[in-house]
Amino acid sequence: MSKANYERSARWKAKDSPVPIHKYAFAPDFVFGASTSAYQIEGGVGEETGRGASIWERYFETRPHLDHGAVACDHYNRMEEDVRMMKSMNLKAYRFSISWSRVLPLGKGKVNEQGLEFYSRLVDELLRNGIEPYVTLYHWDLPQALEDEGGWLNRDTAYAFADFAALIAHRLGDRVKYFGTLNEPEVIVAGYIGDGLAPGLSDPNLRVKVAHNLMLAHGLATQALRSINPDFKIGVTLNLVPAEAKDAANPASVNAARRHWLKNYAIYLEAIFKARYPDVVLEEMAATGAVIHPGDMAIISQRIDYLGVNWYLRHVVDENGGIIDMPGAQKTLMGWEIHAPALTRMLVSMNEEYRLPPIFITENGAALDDTFAKGRVRDVGRMAYIHDHLSALESAVAAGVNVAGYFAWSLMDNLEWSLGFKMTFGIVHVDRNTLVRTIKDSGLWFRDMIKFNVRGSRKSGKRR
Ligand code: FCB
Repeated sequence: MSKANYERSARWKAKDSPVPIHKYAFAPDFVFGASTSAYQIEGGVGEETGRGASIWERYFETRPHLDHGAVACDHYNRMEEDVRMMKSMNLKAYRFSISWSRVLPLGKGKVNEQGLEFYSRLVDELLRNGIEPYVTLYHWDLPQALEDEGGWLNRDTAYAFADFAALIAHRLGDRVKYFGTLNEPEVIVAGYIGDGLAPGLSDPNLRVKVAHNLMLAHGLATQALRSINPDFKIGVTLNLVPAEAKDAANPASVNAARRHWLKNYAIYLEAIFKARYPDVVLEEMAATGAVIHPGDMAIISQRIDYLGVNWYLRHVVDENGGIIDMPGAQKTLMGWEIHAPALTRMLVSMNEEYRLPPIFITENGAALDDTFAKGRVRDVGRMAYIHDHLSALESAVAAGVNVAGYFAWSLMDNLEWSLGFKMTFGIVHVDRNTLVRTIKDSGLWFRDMIKFNVRGSRKSGKRR
């Protein structure tokens, strides 16, 4: 049998790695995996698939100069090959999302069996290959039909989401244990207040209305899932960008940083773990007419089994609340500062402030300027990035934080939303013309690192 394309990239050797393979001090059952999301990789949007339009089709139709996801990585048609590749990379877990409009073309009502069947086959393939599925129910791709009824500004969308969650749990819950409700509410909100994401609205007054409906959706879906099977492991993924004061000795700078954190990020932690919104959010709700119904906070603050944290960067905030650039900071192509120690600091302080369940880092990674030459991507920068963040997690664990797993973003180069295919985050390269997958050096490093950590014999690697 001829070798699969991704296996051509086998010239990498752990012993020559510029970033040595390290045994991290994690619990023996620490989970190592990789993440993707439906719209960013699937393609498969043609009529023959039965999928309905999501807000991204509408977004890109009206912005024809941008890359779009009609083909993406064609994962819809290459799923089996992709799962075999994951196995070859020793992944123990795979976090993916379900396209709501693939399963319910209009967001509710008639089910597209073919769509459900796709995810059912994916789950079977993963399990057959010893990979635990972690299902995200919403990774930003609302069915357009629901957007036409107001999308996340409409409270009914939260109830429709709970019904969708129940449908997925009924169909996949015999094999899937880990469910995540939402991916990054803060960024979903961004699509309504004008940050270059679908549905592409730009009204800052919509911020807390959308945020509250999202929290309600999370709570209702959690209830629905729990009632179907109390043994499911249910969580939510928040993107958390810590706000550090530019000048820790200046109370104005410290207060401004705190306000920035509460308003944008801790809003979700407070709602879920303390059944309340911070004052700065309540003030904004009053000013913009967002309504909390009696009972909402109880629904939102139900117990969850894990917290997913997507971590990419920190913000440094000055006394006026502005985000400043740190002199000499190293940045990724996204302009995001690379500064792993802030991850440790953030987790340790959150652990003091909230009674947190186990934490999975559900995304972490870097868009870097990769060069693909002679069948190989030598992305030492990404390897170092992942190592530095795993080390930061190790320090958090040593300080008492319960970190249960780490998922690299992303399994493969994919559509970085409105920024297109140029932002390559993958540990696997995807050729934009042929769609051939090639495991980057960072992916081979990740493979060997997992092997060493999971079944680790100290002989096969060096300590660092
Ligand atoms: C996160 C998203 C993910 C990807 C990465 C780079 O905010 O969850 O889909 O875009 O950023």
